[in-house]
Amino acid sequence: MRKPIIAGNWKLNKLTAEAKSLVNELMVGLKDIDKAVLPEVVVAPVFTSLQTVSDALSECGCGKVKLSAQNCYWESTGAFTGEVSVEMIKDLKAEYIIIGHSERRQYFSETDEMINKKAKAILAGGLIPIICCGETLEQREEGVTDSHIASQIKAALEGLSSEDVAKSAIAYEPIWAIGTGKTCDSVEANRVIAMIRSVVAEVSGKEAADAIRILYGGSVKPSTIEEQMSQSDIDGALVGGASLKAEDFIGIVTGAIKARV
Ligand code: PGA
Repeated sequence: MRKPIIAGNWKLNKLTAEAKSLVNELMVGLKDIDKAVLPEVVVAPVFTSLQTVSDALSECGCGKVKLSAQNCYWESTGAFTGEVSVEMIKDLKAEYIIIGHSERRQYFSETDEMINKKAKAILAGGLIPIICCGETLEQREEGVTDSHIASQIKAALEGLSSEDVAKSAIAYEPIWAIGTGKTCDSVEANRVIAMIRSVVAEVSGKEAADAIRILYGGSVKPSTIEEQMSQSDIDGALVGGASLKAEDFIGIVTGAIKARV
């Protein structure tokens, strides 16, 4: 059984004090939920709040919320002004790193090759990459969704061992559904995610494909999560906007639990 992941991508939001109150509210909201039924709950604040959020999580000591960064660089040290390495993120007790988000591909010109280098560095450092993929509306209308995503996945996983792929996570995020309020139909999202799983099986073997967690992202809300999590291949959610309000994010976590009991 794959343990679901509900990850909150806070993007470029929240000053340090705000990040601290959000994570504290979140932990209060999760207090009465038995850890055994809880998915992996992950939050990804901006780099400047990682330390504060990490401290808040250690103070609580409940181990119910895990920390993620939103990006990283693949070199560990050196003359790379403005970059942050996997080792530095690990030093703050983060366990996940989101890579290849469509916003990074679109606004910061990240290529499949860069995402592959990041995935390798993250796994070498013992962290878990959440590798994002997804099609634009134009690609969907042209009928190239599957081939585009398959090529993103093959490029991201290039040269990774099956064991490393098994530990990783992928987030399928149709770009037209991100921040738009429009979610992808659950059956269609499940179809694409099952297709991604078959691509993983082709490149890394069946065992890795059975183990890798593949999430859906794109306007996930408390009202959509149960149907999404009831699908055969959707192993969780990468949540943007709705992760910025503790009440909504907790609603998504509890909805995911309900869908699986
Ligand atoms: P959204 O963002 O939930 O606001 O659509 C999802 C994401 O970009 O990860």
